[in-house]
Amino acid sequence: MFGLFLLLSAVIVAGLGKGLSSAWNATVPRWEWDPDSEPFIDGGDNGQYLNLSSGIDLWYTIFGKETSKKTPVLILHGGQGQSNQMYHQANALAKTRQVILQDTRGQGRSPYTSFTNFHYDDFTRDAIALLDHLQIPLVAVVGWSDGAITGLDLAMNYSSRIERVFAHGANLQANMSIPGLNDPIINSGSGSLNSDFKTNGTTYSTHSKRDASGPYSCQTLSPTPQKCKVMEQGVSKMWRTEPTWGPQAMLKITCPVWIVDGDHDIEVERNQADALAAWIPFAGQLILPQTGHFALLQDPKLFNFALEYFLDMEFRGQLPYYR
Ligand SMILES: *[C@@H]1O[C@H](CO)[C@@H](O)[C@H](O)[C@H]1NC(C)=O
Ligand SMILES: *[C@@H]1O[C@H](CO)[C@@H](O)[C@H](O)[C@H]1NC(C)=O
Ligand SMILES: *[C@@H]1O[C@H](CO)[C@@H](O)[C@H](O)[C@H]1NC(C)=O
Ligand SMILES: *[C@@H]1O[C@H](CO)[C@@H](O)[C@H](O)[C@H]1NC(C)=O
Ligand SMILES: *[C@@H]1O[C@H](CO)[C@@H](O)[C@H](O)[C@H]1NC(C)=O
Repeated sequence: MFGLFLLLSAVIVAGLGKGLSSAWNATVPRWEWDPDSEPFIDGGDNGQYLNLSSGIDLWYTIFGKETSKKTPVLILHGGQGQSNQMYHQANALAKTRQVILQDTRGQGRSPYTSFTNFHYDDFTRDAIALLDHLQIPLVAVVGWSDGAITGLDLAMNYSSRIERVFAHGANLQANMSIPGLNDPIINSGSGSLNSDFKTNGTTYSTHSKRDASGPYSCQTLSPTPQKCKVMEQGVSKMWRTEPTWGPQAMLKITCPVWIVDGDHDIEVERNQADALAAWIPFAGQLILPQTGHFALLQDPKLFNFALEYFLDMEFRGQLPYYR
């Protein structure tokens, strides 16, 4: 999700570029970077549709090293976005394993037809329908924002299909003042992080040069461009009301999870990452330095290093809790 004021309501289609350097441009704080060039996925524009019996059409693409022994990775983009935003991750991971990307229903190249309201649970069932179609029994998930929330929804409800989840920029409550004072880390005996997220230690990203008409905008990509505005409103409505998970829901997760966030993320407040990491059994937490909600574009080098490290980590048997 992208927080109420975020955003730049926007069609986050920023481009991301092939040539983007991860070198530091000291004149602009990295968390304010809004990388802007041409997004592309290797072979990614050769996607196709899965037309579900429910009438939902999902755009997806699958590529990478088919013969790899590594678990395939399902890559889930953020709200009001599309798969190309994850191109840094897709292209890097595809060198060593299979990657699957899908444009969330109603977003990107997936048309906004046959349904009205947006729900994480529907995104979750769509992802399973796609995996069933592809006959892929088990995946690792890397998700950003709405995609990370969907990744957790998958882990909660389809534990036999999900090997592990790298969840960047997820929240567990639409109302991010919850769990607030009950935050298990912020209120821990040893913690002293009782800060006001709105004003302390965080510099707001001021950049918002979102491109509403570029080649990867909803207007250009969507088979239902006349509904882009309604789609944005629908997704924003979901952000205001979902998710509403607590510790009980998190206890359903029995696979390895890293809860990841930029240290300057203002779309998702830190208590969300803290609560998720505290409540998901044995979860790890990774706070990426000098980045925001867009960390995967602002610092793809560190993001991808951490991602690949996590994906290749041997978990099985390490903790009896895990499968
Ligand atoms: C750094 O950012 C500033 C401000 O946007 C820009 O004018 C300048 O060209 C950038 N420098 C480099 C090396 O990208
Ligand atoms: C599948 O969905 C796409 C996107 O909406 C559409 O263009 C295509 O005609 C559909 N195919 C079938 C067989 O319904
Ligand atoms: C997954 O589990 C959560 C927590 O119990 C629940 O709220 C949600 O509806 C479930 N999602 C699906 C797709 O079954
Ligand atoms: C969000 O949660 C807080 C704390 O429980 C509550 O005071 C506030 O009214 C809630 N806001 C909304 C919009 O529901
Ligand atoms: C930082 O947070 C504390 C605790 O909420 C608050 O008292 C203080 O005014 C905040 N500082 C600034 C500069 O906003």
